[in-house]
Amino acid sequence: MPATIRERVRALSAFETVKTLLFVYVVFTQSLKAQRHLRARGFRQTFSDFWTWLCQRVIFLALRLPAAKQKVDSQLGEAALKIENSLVPKGPDVVRHLSLPAEGRSPEWILPEMDKMDGEAVKHTNWKGGRMSGAVYHGGEDMQQVIVDAFRKYCVSNPLHPDAFPAVRKMEAEIVAMCLRMYNNPTGAGTTTSGGTESIIMAVKTHRDWARAVKGITEPEMVVPISAHAAFDKAAAYLKIKLHSIPVDPETRKVNVSRMRRAINSNTIMIVGSAINFPDGNMDDIPALSKLAKRYNIGLHVDCCLGSFIMPFLDRAGYPCDVFDFRLEGVTSISCDTHKVKGNVLSFLHLNWTDLDAFCLHFGGVYIVRIRTKGGLYGSPSMAGSRPGALIAGTWAAMQYMGQDGYLESCKNIVGSAQKIVRAIREEIPELYVLGDPPASCVAFAARDKGGLNILAVGDKMSERGWHLNGLQKPAAVHIAVTRLTVPVVDQFIADLKDCVREVKVLSSSMSSEEKGEEGNMVALYGLGNSSAVGPAMVEKMVTAFLDALYKA
Ligand SMILES: *Cc1c(COP(=O)(O)O)cnc(C)c1O
Ligand SMILES: *[C@@H]1O[C@H](CO)[C@@H](O)[C@H](O)[C@H]1NC(C)=O
Ligand SMILES: *[C@@H]1O[C@H](CO)[C@@H](O)[C@H](O)[C@H]1NC(C)=O
Repeated sequence: MPATIRERVRALSAFETVKTLLFVYVVFTQSLKAQRHLRARGFRQTFSDFWTWLCQRVIFLALRLPAAKQKVDSQLGEAALKIENSLVPKGPDVVRHLSLPAEGRSPEWILPEMDKMDGEAVKHTNWKGGRMSGAVYHGGEDMQQVIVDAFRKYCVSNPLHPDAFPAVRKMEAEIVAMCLRMYNNPTGAGTTTSGGTESIIMAVKTHRDWARAVKGITEPEMVVPISAHAAFDKAAAYLKIKLHSIPVDPETRKVNVSRMRRAINSNTIMIVGSAINFPDGNMDDIPALSKLAKRYNIGLHVDCCLGSFIMPFLDRAGYPCDVFDFRLEGVTSISCDTHKVKGNVLSFLHLNWTDLDAFCLHFGGVYIVRIRTKGGLYGSPSMAGSRPGALIAGTWAAMQYMGQDGYLESCKNIVGSAQKIVRAIREEIPELYVLGDPPASCVAFAARDKGGLNILAVGDKMSERGWHLNGLQKPAAVHIAVTRLTVPVVDQFIADLKDCVREVKVLSSSMSSEEKGEEGNMVALYGLGNSSAVGPAMVEKMVTAFLDALYKA
């Protein structure tokens, strides 16, 4: 039948047209993607990324060959055992509690048992002596007492139930209000979270949701300095966001702003700057990043986790630095930690709500609002559901105890000590140089000439003297985050550093390569390189209003 044949031919050609269109669409979107990628990273970077990836695949496949696999497994096992041995106390007198005791223990048993466990650890690292960098941010015994008393008072409180714990709700709202003023945005909004990482993830989520609602971006990307905290990689992985890592200027250690600009495209939701960054304590050019954010109408998150209660006091302490907070119009969110200065675990996410209000107030923003068919309404401000109210009380107490004068004094001492270390290295230790020009509490140093002094070996020598510092890669360097505990021992630090540099120099010139094989931890580790009558929309608004009210101070 000619008619049915004609129909079939027509159907076929229609099918061909659809296929061609689909093909063109795929080629078009893919080449657009490739072009964005190339623009952001450049040909050389793209090629070197591809090369690295290829090498890794080849090595990965080679390591699956039986002979290689056996060797790798045994070496991995060895390394794992070494690490285990250094962390887990072993021996006949170590009692392990692997199941619930059949009968409850007495308080007289519990505390001494904890002391016993600590006894093992204290042998390794004595943080009270101020020699441990970046792990414990302690504010002194008196402050500790204030925090512990607050913890005890609000031990079982939970801010998920503000009706049951009105004081905790009030304190949390006040903490946020105090921090917002500190960062020059008294009309802004914020929440407390479990720490810097959660704050950063919440900030990225808010920008992603804002970009989707306001700009229709479904394949979000963000542009982040290589020196930014790993929390951004976490956020990118959790929230399915493509992350472009931008190199820093080798001299100033600030992110290369022109490279940053090149990586911005129509899918970019936000850029990031640190004040200060973790690896070497330097601050990105936030005013320039703010201009970029304004120009492209994207978000700018400033990570102040490490700089938290130091950066806002720098000017008054006599250490002027660039503006980095909400005074800059492009800054849309800031994360800040309280525990990095005073031994507490709470962090803040500050959003410039005015900028994001189209989204945040009407769509929920960082808040999650759930309308369940069973169980009623549920609203919570961040990733956690139940939260420990004790931490909020402790933070509030600590902030009241410190006051502006306390933080200012603390800032002067901490930054003064860090500057002293910087000066000593620049003027008295010619073998070393300071990375960039760190404005605040954290200083990183590296060996001057390549192939000369092994800085990581210096770090290991410092560990032998009880200093617990962090090793860095690219370039190999060692950093110290100065805290209030370090202040009284800063001269000792400088003297020890000089000694260790001398020791490593002598050792490396007299030692055979065989002996050099006996590497310390730092060398070994870093050297390797909805149902409701009023309707869902109304309910959502009500719950959002409820959540907003929680933060009214
Ligand atoms: C510590 C830190 C973070 C993350 O803080 P956590 O509380 O450890 O999650 C983020 N950024 C910088 C610069 C930091 O130093
Ligand atoms: C917040 O963003 C708005 C809009 O961009 C801006 O006008 C304001 O200056 C920013 N900063 C503060 C502190 O509100
Ligand atoms: C930033 O990167 C560009 C391109 O790679 C380079 O030409 C420029 O010199 C860099 N600027 C700084 C300050 O490093």
